[in-house]
Amino acid sequence: MSQAQTCALELKDVRKSFGKTEIIRGVNLAVQAGERVAVIGPNGAGKSTLFNLISGRFGPSSGEVLLHGQRIDGKKPYEINRMGLSRSFQITNIFPKLSVFENLRCAVLWSLGYRYTFFKFLADLEDANERTEQLLEMIRLDKKRDVLAVNLTYAEQRALEIGVTIAGGASVILLDEPTAGMSKSETARFIHLIREVTEGKTLLTVEHDMGVVFGLADKIAVVVYGEVIAFDTPEAVRANAKVQEAYLGSAVADAQAGGH
Ligand SMILES: Nc1ncnc2c1ncn2[C@@H]1O[C@H](COP(=O)(O)OP(=O)(O)OP(=O)(O)O)[C@@H](O)[C@H]1O
Ligand SMILES: [Mg+2]
Repeated sequence: MSQAQTCALELKDVRKSFGKTEIIRGVNLAVQAGERVAVIGPNGAGKSTLFNLISGRFGPSSGEVLLHGQRIDGKKPYEINRMGLSRSFQITNIFPKLSVFENLRCAVLWSLGYRYTFFKFLADLEDANERTEQLLEMIRLDKKRDVLAVNLTYAEQRALEIGVTIAGGASVILLDEPTAGMSKSETARFIHLIREVTEGKTLLTVEHDMGVVFGLADKIAVVVYGEVIAFDTPEAVRANAKVQEAYLGSAVADAQAGGH
């Protein structure tokens, strides 16, 4: 029984109600280390709520969430972050009045355990500075290091957001609509960047663009009305009649009609 490899992330019959409404209705999911999972589904299906339950923003009403085999449901977001899980938000979450370098260094320092009272010793923190330089290159913003975040282009802000998300070296990364609002060409470049910076890590990403989904994901989780109705390879999900009926048929039709 315990021969099975420990999953990077596992959800067991997770449920979440807001008031009397059950929004997440018994989700089971087992993600192996190093897998890239795209979470898709219609608006309001519960994708962001699932991420909130995994990252500790909300506790589930019932069920279990395990990170590398350890229970994380009920823990605080920063505790879960310390255990190796990091998430980005659907809305950009960076400090607009800090430079690119400072934004990244804040994230690095935080992950190294430094708190604001120690920030005056910044110059001495060689390890933090080195890690920050590495991140700058990884997200291709080394030439923008001293630019205030507020003055970056939208796509650059999203890249910085990814940098902040991976700064602590988390092994499990959740990205909620990382390419939202980007043009086709920006999206293509950005997906390439995401692939690179999350190499070897476990990645869950909420994504509406089916082209991106099929290009990025090893597996697809289809969330419809608070349930995961399919969790499989892109080919299998594409061929799944239940998914066709509930979601994918219309999403593909929408994409062909020029929407998303
Ligand atoms: N804090 C909350 N309190 C009450 N209801 C909420 C809360 N957060 C989300 N919901 C509801 O839960 C449902 C799922 O929302 P969620 O944001 O998870 O959907 P989603 O799949 O991420 O949608 P989208 O594709 O539009 O981002 C929605 O009906 C939403 O109104
Ligand atoms: Mg959402």
